[in-house]
Parts: sequence; structure tokens; C-alpha cells
Amino acid sequence: MGLCNSKIKGRRIKRSTTNDLSNDHGDDVENHVYSFPHDDEECDRIHLQHLIERYIWQGNFFSPIENLLNQAGTKVLDVGTGSGAWLLEMATKYSKSEFIGIDISQMQPDENIPPNAKFIQANVLERLPFNDNTFDFIFQRILFAGIPRNKWSSTIDELVRVLKPGGYLELAENDFQYNMMGLATRKIVDGLLILFHERGIDPTVCYKLQNYLEENKQLHNVHCEEKKYVDGQYSTKVYKLLFDDYSAVLTNIKPTLMNIIKVSSEEYDGLVNDMGKEVMESECFNMHVRVYAQKKA
Ligand SMILES: C[S@@+](CC[C@H](N)C(=O)[O-])C[C@H]1O[C@@H](n2cnc3c(N)ncnc32)[C@H](O)[C@@H]1O
Repeated sequence: MGLCNSKIKGRRIKRSTTNDLSNDHGDDVENHVYSFPHDDEECDRIHLQHLIERYIWQGNFFSPIENLLNQAGTKVLDVGTGSGAWLLEMATKYSKSEFIGIDISQMQPDENIPPNAKFIQANVLERLPFNDNTFDFIFQRILFAGIPRNKWSSTIDELVRVLKPGGYLELAENDFQYNMMGLATRKIVDGLLILFHERGIDPTVCYKLQNYLEENKQLHNVHCEEKKYVDGQYSTKVYKLLFDDYSAVLTNIKPTLMNIIKVSSEEYDGLVNDMGKEVMESECFNMHVRVYAQKKA
């Protein structure tokens, strides 16, 4: 599958303009720990991240739900939908199914949305605005920075509550740390680790997803896939995009991270630049993990 063949064009995006990294993004949502902005740049970055993920996994999901998605009335929930790119692509392809995307932000498009898709502002750390047993498929990708370590089990409980018996829950997360790190990369990654530690976030939750699903008494048929993805010049054609995504994260959270690693603006830019060279010149990789499970009938 090509990388960019379904880039969403011509959609107007509702975006908050704040770049404030506190809990108040101007989104009227409290009780969350997510520290990334919800502005134009971050929306574009999340869109790029979607294209990279789809390319790496060569598809948008791995639960055995293709037939279900082609049946009228199937209901799908996308948790932390971000730019909405995954949901809009899925809703366009599976036009008989209904798709709902939830997010604390309102950065999703508000026009040219397929009739079977909608976005709702909701916080996955709170009770979701859906009845028990509503969805046939629930998808949640790259939310590690939004769910504190001690809330993963209860968040999964809540997702399972709104999942229909026999329905599938799929989670995907990445490890942002590389197996080999040069000095600049180490400094940046250490800063990210401090940021996540301060917010109670587990940066290695990708390796625990399978356990979380196995521990949930209402789930069974747990499947897990891990993929090492080589970055830098030894990688495939997406290597440049992978680091573009990483450096866009670092640009978008620059004020916060600069403060944590105690460097000036110029020093920070220099570190990100050096990190780019280190990653490009080494044969480093990071891990991508996805899991799914079925709710018992
Ligand atoms: C890295 S983006 C991933 C977007 C999308 N899932 C994807 O894979 O393309 C994380 C998204 O989760 C959202 N988010 C963070 N904390 C959340 C919460 N407590 N409830 C709902 N959404 C949340 C953020 O606003 C952001 O849009």
C-alpha cells in the first residue's frame, strides 16, 4: 500500500489556536494528562503519523472484522481520533458501517464528512457517552501520552463496557525510544521520559498491551503483533518521514521540553538537528505493537 494515496484534501479543520502545554488547551476538557498541543502543526503531524502507521502495518487494522465492516449497521468507535484521518478513510471505504471518533480536542474536520461518520468531544478517562454494548469494533491508536499508567485497566474496562459481546477491541502503541541512541538523541529522549514521568505516563506501555487485554475477564482471543521498524538511511522509503514525524513532535512540544532539559532555544534546535543526523546515520529501530481481543459472548 502506498503511503500517501488517501491523504484527505480540501477538508476544513476546526482547530484550537493555543500552543499551551498545560492541561488547558482551550478545549473545555479537564481531567486529562495529554501534553501535546492541538494546533494546525500538530494536526498535520498526526495526519502524517497516520500515513506512516498505515504503511508500516500495510493496513488500518488487524482484527478479523472485514466482513462485519461490510454489513449494514456495524458500529465502530475510534478513540483519540486526532486528525480523524483513520476514521474518514475507514468510513469512506466501509460505507455501510457507522463510525464515531472521540477526542478531547476538536481538531477534526467539520465539513465534507461522509454521512456514516461523526466526531464527538469526549474524554476516554471518564465515563463515555454511550450505552453498554454499543460498538462492534473499537480502535485506539497512539494514546500512551493521554492515559496515565494507573488508568490503563480502568480505561480498557470502560471500552469493554461499550463494546458489544463478540465485538473486537484493538489497541496500537509505539516505543518512542530507539535501540541505539547517540548523545543528542539520549538527551532528548531523557527529557521526554521526565515529561511523561511527571504526568504519570508509562512510555513503554506498548509492551504491556497484551497483558492488559489478557487481564480483562470479559475479553478473550487476545492477539499481539510486534514490528521492529528501522529508521534512518538503512530503512525503507519512509525513513525520512519517520524522523520528520519525530522532529515535528519535538518542534510542537519545544517550549515544554526546552524547560525540562534546560537548554536555550538555539541549543534545542541544535540537539534536534544532531538527533536527526544520529538517527539517519545509525541502523537504529523502534518497536510498534498492536493487539486485539474479542469480548466474550
Ligand atoms: C497521537 S494522537 C493519535 C491520533 C490517532 N489515534 C492516530 O493514531 O492517528 C493522540 C490523540 O489522542 C487524543 N487524546 C489524548 N488524551 C485523550 C483523552 N483522555 N480522551 C480522548 N482523547 C485523548 C489527543 O487529543 C490526540 O488527538
